Amino acid sequence: VIELSLRPTTLKQYIGQHKAKENLAIFIEAAKMRDEPLDHVLLYGPPGLGKTTMASIIANEMGVSFRTTSGPAIEKAGDLAAILSSLEAGDVLFIDEIHRLPRAVEEILYPAMEDFCLDIVIGTGPSARSVRLDLPPFTLVGATTRAGLLSAPLRDRFGVLSRLEFYHTEDLASIVERTAVIFDVEIEPSAALEVALRSRGTPRIANRLLKRVRDISQVKGEDYITQETTHVALNKLQVDAKGLDHIDHKLLTTIIDHFRGGPVGLDTISATIGEESQTIEDVYEPYLLQIGFIQRTPRGRIVTPLAYAHFGREVPKA
Ligand code: ADE
Repeated sequence: VIELSLRPTTLKQYIGQHKAKENLAIFIEAAKMRDEPLDHVLLYGPPGLGKTTMASIIANEMGVSFRTTSGPAIEKAGDLAAILSSLEAGDVLFIDEIHRLPRAVEEILYPAMEDFCLDIVIGTGPSARSVRLDLPPFTLVGATTRAGLLSAPLRDRFGVLSRLEFYHTEDLASIVERTAVIFDVEIEPSAALEVALRSRGTPRIANRLLKRVRDISQVKGEDYITQETTHVALNKLQVDAKGLDHIDHKLLTTIIDHFRGGPVGLDTISATIGEESQTIEDVYEPYLLQIGFIQRTPRGRIVTPLAYAHFGREVPKA
C-alpha cells in the first residue's frame, strides 16, 4: 500500500523528467480537446526512472482505466487477444518490457494499434478462416530499457517516443524529501541531498536507500534523519560516494585488473564477473557511461581515467 502511494498520480506531482512531462502534457491536452484517445506512447530508459509511474499518470490524466501487463507474461496470441477485447474505449493498456513479447503475439498487436482490430484465425486446415474483430480505440503505452530492443515495425507504430533520463541531483533530493513526508519521518535537507548524490540518478534506488537509512536512524533513536547518520548508513550499505555498489565495483575493477582497462567485449566481462550480459548492458552500464567511467568502442568497453582516479589507481602506460 505504501509502495503504491509513493507513486505520484498527476504530472504536476511528478518530479523531474521535465522534457518528457512537458511534451506529454501537450499531447494529453490536445487528445482531450479532440475527445480522442491519446496516440500510442513508447517510454524507454534505464530501470527505476518511473516508466510505470508515467504510464499510470497518463491514464489518470486522460481520465481512463489503467490496465497493466508485461511482455514475458503474454505467452500466446490468444492471451493478448483476450486482454485487447476486454478494453473499454480510451483505456490505457500498459505493456512493461514490451521488447520481450513473443513474435506471434507482436503480430496481433500491429493491426490492433493501427486500425483497432483483431485478426484471428478460426479453425485449422482447409476450413480455417480469418475473421476481423473491431476493438474499442485505446492507447498502448509500452515500456522498455532501450528503444533499439524493439523490432522496427513495432517501434514505428508508436506515435510518441519518450526517453526518460537519469534524474538531476536536486530533483532526486526533492523526491527523497517527498518520500520522507509519506513515510512520516523528518530528514535534514543535507541528508536528503546525500541520499540523492548516491542514488545513481534513479528514484527507485533513492527510495530504497532512504528506507534503509530510516531504519538505522530509527534504531539510533533519532528524532529526524541526520546527515551524519545518512553518511554512516550509506557507507555501511556499501554504496560509495558516487552511488556505485559492489557490482559496479566488480565490473570496473575486473576490467582494470584483468584486461588492463580494456577494450574488452561485453560477453567476456559477463563471463568473468558472473552477471548476465543483458543485465550489465541495461542496468549497470547506462549510469557508468553517463558519469564517464566507461566508454563503448567498436572493440569493446574501456575504463576511463576518471574511473581509475575514483579507485585511486594509476592508468597503465601504453
Ligand atoms: N517517487 C518516485 N519517483 C518520483 C517522481 N519522479 N516524482 C515524484 N515522486 C516520485
